[in-house]
Amino acid sequence: MKSNKLLYEGKAKSVFATKNPDEVIMEFRDDMTAGDGARHETIGKKGYYNSIITSKIFEVLEENGVKTQFLELVKPGTLKTLKLDMIMIEVIIRNRATGSLIRTYPFEDGTILNPPIVQMDYKNDDFHDPMLNGTIAQALNLATQDELHIMKNLALKINEVLSKMFADIGIILVDFKVEFGKDSNGNIILGDEISPDSCRLWDSETLDMLDKELFRQGQDDKVIDAYEEIFNRLLTDEDKKKWNL
Ligand code: C5P
Repeated sequence: MKSNKLLYEGKAKSVFATKNPDEVIMEFRDDMTAGDGARHETIGKKGYYNSIITSKIFEVLEENGVKTQFLELVKPGTLKTLKLDMIMIEVIIRNRATGSLIRTYPFEDGTILNPPIVQMDYKNDDFHDPMLNGTIAQALNLATQDELHIMKNLALKINEVLSKMFADIGIILVDFKVEFGKDSNGNIILGDEISPDSCRLWDSETLDMLDKELFRQGQDDKVIDAYEEIFNRLLTDEDKKKWNL
């Protein structure tokens, strides 16, 4: 696999070409960054957990009618996926106010948001991922109005499915970020990952954080235990057997 051509190297994943032009290999690394890449550490086994958690979540979404780029967990850390032309927009859904929302607007931390907030940010570190509105996104040629509409509705559907999935294992889906891309036919499909790197996940009873926020707040020693906790609650014995875990 490693000898395959590197197509893209992000902050936590690398994407490699395969012999099939419609498929790529996605490697989840143990790198963890915060502050637009200003802080960078290696967190052992993070790639292992995030690749498996993403595989499980994408399978659940597929079962609920959401098309994803996931094809196969080749081995822990490595996914085979559809090749997508990624749209440079981060779609964020917020079920509770926290994080950058409460730094920008006068919400109290933890306030329940019903209906959820849908936010779109421009994926661009140089400009610190600024928040978009529809006309800015169109003026930057990031997406058409129709595409923005499709992404918003898909993100809300993903929120419905995942909020229930997490509630069933005693976790509140506080907020999350998703990215979409287009397949070779121009269909908009969920891509990238959904993992504790891209979600805020709180234990329903204790409200303990079980996600990357621990790293953002400098509690690096707690990160991998939190990710393992999500893995243990999410994966069934059947999943573990299927993927030889
Ligand atoms: O920091 P903020 O409150 O805007 O983050 C909202 C949600 O989006 C969080 O779940 C965070 O993990 C996710 N996010 C992300 N990648 C970014 C920005 C935010 O996964 N670049």
